[in-house]
Amino acid sequence: MTRIGVIGTGMLGKAVGLHLLESGYQLTVYNRTKSKTEELKNHGATVVDSPKDVARSSDLVITIVKDANAVKDVSFGKDGIVDGKHDDLIVADMSTINPNASKEIAKQFSKHGIIMLDTPVMGGPNVAITGKLVLMAAGDKDAFETHKKIFETIASKTFFLGPNGTAHSVKLAMNLQIGMLALALSEGITLARGAGVDPEVFLSILNSTYFKTGMSENKAYNMIKDEYSPTFTLSNLKKDLDTINEAAKEFGLKLPMATKANEIYKKANDEGFGDLDYTGILAYLKKAAKLVD
Ligand SMILES: NC(=O)c1ccc[n+]([C@@H]2O[C@H](COP(=O)([O-])OP(=O)(O)OC[C@H]3O[C@@H](n4cnc5c(N)ncnc54)[C@H](OP(=O)(O)O)[C@@H]3O)[C@@H](O)[C@H]2O)c1
Repeated sequence: MTRIGVIGTGMLGKAVGLHLLESGYQLTVYNRTKSKTEELKNHGATVVDSPKDVARSSDLVITIVKDANAVKDVSFGKDGIVDGKHDDLIVADMSTINPNASKEIAKQFSKHGIIMLDTPVMGGPNVAITGKLVLMAAGDKDAFETHKKIFETIASKTFFLGPNGTAHSVKLAMNLQIGMLALALSEGITLARGAGVDPEVFLSILNSTYFKTGMSENKAYNMIKDEYSPTFTLSNLKKDLDTINEAAKEFGLKLPMATKANEIYKKANDEGFGDLDYTGILAYLKKAAKLVD
């Protein structure tokens, strides 16, 4: 059976790892902060001290870290993945990063004879734990086919898009939806509240229409109770909006709503809302709208 490694056992990496163990795979894991590997260890994962050690004992290494700099650190930094290279090692990066950065990283890996696939996903840890993510892949098609069974264990739907960078471009377009939906929903709730209407009434009506979303049918009910326990942090969504705007610039595009949304999430992050779930943008708007109790 293919030996899998996971580097980065934050919220998403831990859930992906637990599901792979549950599915019978042999798993080696590394996280910069070791304590976050404890639960995986208790479920049978081997915990090692460096990305190099993960690479040495894995056929497929999945990186699930914060951003492009973190991917570079674990790949090419001290005791990085390339230091543990061996024949047939394939890397799949599941972090959300700039498509151009991904192309560069894949190129750098290829100089070491290692194939790197982009494999960003949609869906949070609660979805990853049951293998129901949606996975977008890009890079070497044969490498994708080699490990397709594993990607199909992680995700209920997989899409192969083309050369490195393409999957991340679509992933950024997806996260733009998340950022905008959370804002639209939060401003709708804030407006209803400001007009003296129970936000639950607003949600019942919204969810009776064509304009309902998974977010308005699910997370919105936690939002109106001020419950923002994170599955995907506001600071990570802000990081993705930074990346969306950076990529748009590189593609020579103007995305006015993305630019505005970036400003709002940046302010919320700067004012201390970053560790909340991204839907905590409502808490920031509530404060900004001066509706704090
Ligand atoms: N959560 C979701 O719903 C979701 C869904 C799709 C995609 N993603 C993407 O998946 C990635 C991980 O997200 P997450 O929610 O798991 O975030 P998270 O809980 O904040 O975890 C971030 C991970 O990155 C590691 N990291 C950060 N900087 C590093 C560096 N310089 N060197 C090595 N490791 C570093 C952290 O290590 P430490 O523990 O040591 O800080 C941690 O393991 C992000 O790119 C995110 O955008 C998340």
